[in-house]
Amino acid sequence: RVSTVDSRALDEIKIGGMGASRRRVEDDRFIRGKGNYIDDVVLPGMLHMEILRSPLAHARIKSIDTSKAYAIPGVRLVLTGEMMATRNLAWMPTLSYDTQAVLATDKVRFQGQEVACVIADDPYLAKDGCEAIVVDYEPLPPIVNPEQALAEGSPLIRDDKENQRDNVAFDWEVGDRDGTDRAFAQADLVSEIDLHYPRSHPSPLECCGSIADFNRSTSKLTVYLTSQAPHIVRAAVSLIAELPEHMIRIISPDLGGGFGNKVPVYPGYVVSILASILLETPVKWIEDRSGNLISTGFGRDVYLHGELALRKDGRILGVRMNTVSDHGAFFADAQPSKFKIGLMHSAFACYDVPYAHLSARGVYTNKAPGGVAYRCSFRVTEAMFFQERMVQAAADDLGMDQAEFRRVNFVRDDDFPHRTPYGFLTDSGQYGKCLDVALEAVGYEDFLRQQQQARQEGRLLGIGISTMTEPLGAGNSREYDILGIKMFDSAELRVHMTGRAILRTGARTQGQGHETTWAQIVAHELGLPSADVVVEEGDTDTAPFGMGTYASRSTPVAGAAVAMAARKVRAKSRKLAAHLLEVSEEDLEWELGRFYVRSAPERGVSIQECAMAAYSNMPDGLEPGLEATAFYDPPNLTWPFAAYVCTVEIDPQTGVWDVLNFVAVDDCGVRINPMIVEGQIMGGLTEAYAMANMQFITFDSEGNCVGSNFMDYLLPTAWETPGYELHEVVTPCPHHPIGAKGVGECATVGGPAAFVNAVVNAVGEAQVRNIDMPVLPDRVYQAITQRCNVS
Ligand code: CDP
Repeated sequence: RVSTVDSRALDEIKIGGMGASRRRVEDDRFIRGKGNYIDDVVLPGMLHMEILRSPLAHARIKSIDTSKAYAIPGVRLVLTGEMMATRNLAWMPTLSYDTQAVLATDKVRFQGQEVACVIADDPYLAKDGCEAIVVDYEPLPPIVNPEQALAEGSPLIRDDKENQRDNVAFDWEVGDRDGTDRAFAQADLVSEIDLHYPRSHPSPLECCGSIADFNRSTSKLTVYLTSQAPHIVRAAVSLIAELPEHMIRIISPDLGGGFGNKVPVYPGYVVSILASILLETPVKWIEDRSGNLISTGFGRDVYLHGELALRKDGRILGVRMNTVSDHGAFFADAQPSKFKIGLMHSAFACYDVPYAHLSARGVYTNKAPGGVAYRCSFRVTEAMFFQERMVQAAADDLGMDQAEFRRVNFVRDDDFPHRTPYGFLTDSGQYGKCLDVALEAVGYEDFLRQQQQARQEGRLLGIGISTMTEPLGAGNSREYDILGIKMFDSAELRVHMTGRAILRTGARTQGQGHETTWAQIVAHELGLPSADVVVEEGDTDTAPFGMGTYASRSTPVAGAAVAMAARKVRAKSRKLAAHLLEVSEEDLEWELGRFYVRSAPERGVSIQECAMAAYSNMPDGLEPGLEATAFYDPPNLTWPFAAYVCTVEIDPQTGVWDVLNFVAVDDCGVRINPMIVEGQIMGGLTEAYAMANMQFITFDSEGNCVGSNFMDYLLPTAWETPGYELHEVVTPCPHHPIGAKGVGECATVGGPAAFVNAVVNAVGEAQVRNIDMPVLPDRVYQAITQRCNVS
């Protein structure tokens, strides 16, 4: 027998509502090759743009000769920094209140920097045009790491900035310095570790691109753009190009992945817009793979000196984190304005730590801009990696079991809301339970025994744990803004007279499945089958204003707005139902998809009948139509939790390590679509594995970017990707309208530490304290044979 609650849930599953593992509706067009990506868009009379990039990391530009490029038939325009400057467009603001060169005027500051653009009849002619440009460079000493940048007498990279006297982009601190000092004075033991989270690249399969189409007769600028945040770009274009906002339309077509790479505004976008205005014809720029890998949107590159003040019984008394981050030549991070190093200070949120202090210094180097939040809420990935590596080292220093050390320090289930040591407010979670489920699934005690046994046989087995809660869903608007624009989001729901609906949001899916899951929220709130709701995002002329999709903020913010818009529609439908049933609103009850009379449950009307009445039979005085818009400003971030446990075996002869088992327990509150959530976790873990195991993009002493192709910078395939065992715990978010927390990035954020902790544990903590990512076989071999830390 099915209980009433179960039968309601089953009814909802049948219409594809909350909890249904509904197949992704967008996949139909993607797997048939019918997606509409930017390179599929072809406009009449369209020209093509290519970018000439600097071969040097640091050099003064003495002259640029474009005459040979102009001599190529089919080349229509060549733009240089000097020409951009005449229109006040040589520099643009970044999302972190810095400036960035659009096309270089004075100097080039990283290899791959944009120097000139050629617009021609086809992309090949444009490329030929770039090769024909002669640039006379005077090389300057390149600065390729923070140590060089901060050294006495180091050349000034940002000599374009009036008051800049050194290579420091910012100094920032947060936390209680005195309290933390006192905690350290009382410690029985201080555990210290130095770590580096290396540069990585989000590498979406589709690179960046734009098609600008300025229509002189209407003065309207339409830009097709690979953007995760089209409304922010519209605001930025309006500010940079001084065009009125209502005359700018940004259309973000299907995106072939984004991962943070498609949040910033890049020079190619700006130049294609100016070119279209000057030539009065559409101009298309499609970035190539090397362009993407060397110039757009690096993530990470943070060094940490971390310290934990510990009591003998295992309690953490205080945390000190001292970071230096390498931002490249321009401080272009997309992050809330008031946090200079993003949400790095979300570290240790799941642990009950009384005092913490973080000092953060950002530096300029001769590298492409870094700091992109690669599948990450503004530096949360680095925060959680550092946290979990520090925790493992501390457990080892104390001689305590690493799982027990975490358990002793976790915030307890009855201790919410909880103020974290750096001042965030967490509101819910079952941390101990998640860890227990993970340890049970991996067979923790058994594995420890096997590990001992294996050691005696000369085999190296290791186990790594990573447990973390992270803040997903910026705003609230009180604390979070980008360039002064407050962080909230929006949804607009139009229910047609037949009960079919169109939903638009200010978010922009890049593969996360919004077209599927947003319709499920509407189904949950209104009882309309999700198949009857079409979801549209990405066009600033039709979508309500929103801050876009990154930092797993869509479900916490835009998803909440969807629920609120649907509730407004339901409230109006109630009035229509009362009219149709000739009773007062107070006499009505709601069940999925139907209002009925409380005293006579058989008398009712469906939501579809209400929709028809909204256009054909509304009561006197009630506005016709059934549409609603909601802007949602969340009261807090959502705080999902994850416990990841990984076991590995290292081949001592080669340093190659294999994953034996990986267990993931995620608590992202109520799951809208469990299948999509699992897909997000598996994808995230695979990216974490790639960063931990194989992805290496670096710079030589001349500032040449090494590894900027997919032969060297490896994307994991199904062949090397390990299997994952997934489990769930559900702690609903207390303030989200449907109890959901974000999940998209959790596994990328929490995953890397589990892999690295497992390898370090296999080598033996007594032998080596740290091996930096990527944990390549030669590094592991060196750690085993030379008993040293490896970076
Ligand atoms: O902002 P982004 O879409 O990248 O991340 P998200 O809000 O965490 O959502 C990723 C995908 O997982 C979306 O399709 C969500 O609707 C879905 N999801 C879910 O089904 N249940 C949750 N509790 C969280 C996300």
